[in-house]
Amino acid sequence: MLQVTNLNIALDDLILAKDMSFHLKPGKVNVIIGPNGTGKSTLLKTLFGDIQTESGEISFANQTLQRKQLSHWRKQFGYMPQDIRLDVELSALEVVLLGQLDSLGLRLDDSVIKEALSALDKIGLLHLADKQVNKLSGGQCQMILFAQALMRKPKILMLDEPVSALDLHFQHVLLDHLDAQTKEQNWVTIMVLHDLNLAAQYADNLLVLKDGKLVASGHPSDILTPSLVESVYKVKAEVTRDTAGVPFVRTIRKSRSVTTKSISPKEQTMNVKESVYQAS
Ligand SMILES: Nc1ncnc2c1ncn2[C@@H]1O[C@H](COP(=O)(O)OP(=O)(O)OP(=O)(O)O)[C@@H](O)[C@H]1O
Ligand SMILES: [Mg+2]
Repeated sequence: MLQVTNLNIALDDLILAKDMSFHLKPGKVNVIIGPNGTGKSTLLKTLFGDIQTESGEISFANQTLQRKQLSHWRKQFGYMPQDIRLDVELSALEVVLLGQLDSLGLRLDDSVIKEALSALDKIGLLHLADKQVNKLSGGQCQMILFAQALMRKPKILMLDEPVSALDLHFQHVLLDHLDAQTKEQNWVTIMVLHDLNLAAQYADNLLVLKDGKLVASGHPSDILTPSLVESVYKVKAEVTRDTAGVPFVRTIRKSRSVTTKSISPKEQTMNVKESVYQAS
């Protein structure tokens, strides 16, 4: 279990965590949401030992984060930071292999290369293995970095907005794979997302940050309500539930009052045909 106790973080005059405490269980996808600038990335960097805290304790499996033993602490992590550019002349396969940098010897084992190729294959990107990463699209780079984080075989996997550049298909490829691997490998997974509906579909545990405080935490179906969305984001919203009980958040534009109606299957096919016709 990853345990955070009475954490206080301040950068310059900005208080980003005020006596924050929570614990995250292995085998669960923990999703952090909250407004821009609220300290989500700072919290991940702090867990990784990149940011000096004012006070508080961070521990995992009987080990406490201490500056003296930072490299040992970090070995437990796979970390995909927000917005990394891959401006290097390396192939996608080489970038994925860097996930195992800690344990790579002078000569690369065939088994390690096979594992990296299999990681690419599982997320549908095997065809990019030999391509230079500085010639890939933003979304393709994001997927390659995801494969790299998985290669580390972490105990704690942190992903900061991992789907920000991904199309709908790859958002679900990444998140389904992440969910399955988290459960299979018993990882503590911590991910920052802005899309509340993806958070609702994939979080086993949702942590809502605002003004340095953890204002709510729990299963999305228990805590995602119109009043929470409005108090955190200052945006009105309706929250409905699908048949599995998963919340669906629909935000409401100011100065507009509309009601929704479901589109019938017949209308759905008509709309698709019309758009294809107009596009051609
Ligand atoms: N090294 C630093 N020194 C001083 N202030 C910092 C530093 N890093 C971040 N900040 C400030 O801390 C605040 C929180 O930043 P952080 O990146 O954690 O926000 P975030 O919640 O991840 O936002 P976003 O959703 O936009 O990614 C911001 O106001 C930012 O300017
Ligand atoms: Mg951030």
